[in-house]
Amino acid sequence: MSTTQYASTSQESEPVKFAYWVPNVSGGLVISNIEQRTHWDLDYNIKLAQIAEQSGFDYALSQIRFTAGYGAENQHEPVSFSQALLHNTTKLKLIAALLPGPWNPAVAAKQIASISQYTGGRIAVNVVSGWFRGEFTAIGEPWLDHDERYRRSEEFIRALRGIWSEDNFTFRGDFYRFTNYSLKPKPLQPLPEIFQGGSSRAARDMASRVSDWYFTNGNTPDEIKKQIDDIRAKAKAHGRTVKIGVNAFGIARDTEAEARAVVAEIIAKANPEAVNAFGHEVKNAGAASPEGQGNWAKSTFEDLVQYNDGFRTNLIGTPQQIAERILALKDVGVDLVLLGFLHFQEDVDYFGKHVFPLVRELEARRAPRSQAAE
Ligand SMILES: Cc1cc2nc3c(=O)[nH]c(=O)nc-3n(C[C@H](O)[C@H](O)[C@H](O)COP(=O)(O)O)c2cc1C
Repeated sequence: MSTTQYASTSQESEPVKFAYWVPNVSGGLVISNIEQRTHWDLDYNIKLAQIAEQSGFDYALSQIRFTAGYGAENQHEPVSFSQALLHNTTKLKLIAALLPGPWNPAVAAKQIASISQYTGGRIAVNVVSGWFRGEFTAIGEPWLDHDERYRRSEEFIRALRGIWSEDNFTFRGDFYRFTNYSLKPKPLQPLPEIFQGGSSRAARDMASRVSDWYFTNGNTPDEIKKQIDDIRAKAKAHGRTVKIGVNAFGIARDTEAEARAVVAEIIAKANPEAVNAFGHEVKNAGAASPEGQGNWAKSTFEDLVQYNDGFRTNLIGTPQQIAERILALKDVGVDLVLLGFLHFQEDVDYFGKHVFPLVRELEARRAPRSQAAE
């Protein structure tokens, strides 16, 4: 794959950042009966976080699930889990998922401010808007229409930022209200970064208005570029910039054939009922948007075996191939690659040893060329 296909739109001097999905839910990141040497308990995750920060990962993203469904039989709560990992690491930043509805912004702002104080500011949040209706029903939360979910998430983010940065914060929203509220202590500066997930128009519009980071499902550089161009044009109109993170399932092996055999086995051992039921659920959630499309609108059966279309990003092959494809993502404006793996501890270690040095080498080789072009 060519790495010089597009004029770069990202901040070229910044090295691409890496995050991994914290396996704080059981069953791993693929809906498949393939062997996965990944565990969801705290001890496994502490060791993983320590390997990850040694390997050069910048962030770890914890997930929020309230109930089982299509895998994820057990689920640890992400804010407390993130905090436990922070207390056992020194550099890694934890991005804790928050789901407006169950989380009220007053509680979330206070939790995160305290964790920021205890951990030298290593906490960030991922505001998710929900796709799993059954989960909302199970916990007695109203299930809003697609765009209403994003309207609530946007108010949630505005409230978080306001509470964290102002005294006597006053806010009159349709979902949340605050009157002369002064949070003490506030989080450390710089404020915790606010990530969000989603690909729909509502998700992109919200990112352009309020989020620091936009996380999206796996895809090809061409398709990701379309989203980035849209978000960055809208953000510019609001006088803002938004950074972009893209999901990928990483399979690095010494030969491409070995890596391809792994993905083929994951798909061959997929659980078809669970994959189809998951596909039905996520497509329904997006179909309720006015344009009838969501994050998973174009996902095939094979894509859905990985919850967030991570095979599509194609970080599957030799370390050299993967490094070149990461640079191709950077070329279209991607700032961060979020990785899921089959055997997290082993694969995180392998990426750190074999893939990241090649990425840094390619970035260093390019830097003089882009300066010369200026
Ligand atoms: C990287 C990433 C992480 C996400 N993490 C979660 C999560 O932990 N829990 C959850 O319920 N939804 C999660 N989501 C789902 C999104 O917040 C959003 O509800 C979903 O992508 C629907 O997007 P759409 O509006 O584009 O259809 C995540 C999405 C992405 C892209």
